[in-house]
Amino acid sequence: MLRTYIADIALPSCLYNASGARCVTAAELDALAESAAGAILSKSCTPTYRAGNPLPRYYENEWGSFNSMGLPNEGYKYYAKYAAVRPHRDKPYFVSVSGLSLDDNLMMIEALGKTPPIDAIELNLSCPNVPGKPQTGYDMEHTNETLRQVAPLCLNKVWGVKLPPYFDIAHFNETAAILNQYPIHFVTCINSIGNALVIDPHSEQVVIKPRNGFGGLGGDYIKPTALANVRQFYTLLRPDIAIIGCGGVRTGIDAFEHILCGASAVQVGTALVREGTACFSRIEAELKTLMQQKGYYCIDDFKGKLKEL
Ligand code: DHB
Repeated sequence: MLRTYIADIALPSCLYNASGARCVTAAELDALAESAAGAILSKSCTPTYRAGNPLPRYYENEWGSFNSMGLPNEGYKYYAKYAAVRPHRDKPYFVSVSGLSLDDNLMMIEALGKTPPIDAIELNLSCPNVPGKPQTGYDMEHTNETLRQVAPLCLNKVWGVKLPPYFDIAHFNETAAILNQYPIHFVTCINSIGNALVIDPHSEQVVIKPRNGFGGLGGDYIKPTALANVRQFYTLLRPDIAIIGCGGVRTGIDAFEHILCGASAVQVGTALVREGTACFSRIEAELKTLMQQKGYYCIDDFKGKLKEL
């Protein structure tokens, strides 16, 4: 009932993890493989191992999550090697790539593109948490140049980009016009809302240590922004580019809303960190119940079919 496709890749369920959430180590990736998730996506990787930012670097409250992890990851070779040893080959395995320079990204994508058991590459243009490194997705020229140089390396690979949230119609139009020029297969909307500030009024302190307490916001806080981005890019991008929704998916209704806005698959971040991999079977059951109540048999019955007033 929840089966979906990203390009020619079949996912047994449209629900899977957002990059960053419980996907750094082989044990975490194994747990995703064992779960009801429809795909496995790695933590964003860099050329070599990174310990990430100082602790505490993750905080959550009833409305969502807040982080400045600083790209802690095992290095791209680890995620390439995992492709060959992972259990449950019936679901696809995607690697998220987030180099600190264009050269980093080109080097990793060239290597990962030649690793056959990796089903797709999600190029992260939107990490907000590395001091001194702006989010590529907010620099249109840099985004264009990145795609121009990455595209030839991905001729035989399904690939796409993870975008930051946009807030202005001109930015949606400009970004979509750039993306439409390249043979990408998907876009993932959205990364966390970067450079937010969550504080504790009792202690009068920031709640995370890195970057004077500034970090990326996720969870319920960001669902309306995520839905707006999914809807805009669904409307503006070539129809062969799948939209993957990410942001504020905690319940089956949240996933339903993303699909209604045009998402072909939906990632779960904050709720996965909070609840563990059991979130996938719960959200799946909630989404299926809602679809049954509405008389929908598959996600194509309502994908993108948001109604206007
Ligand atoms: C990190 C956060 C992100 O939002 C992202 O896209 C990549 C990395 C991090 O801080 O580790």
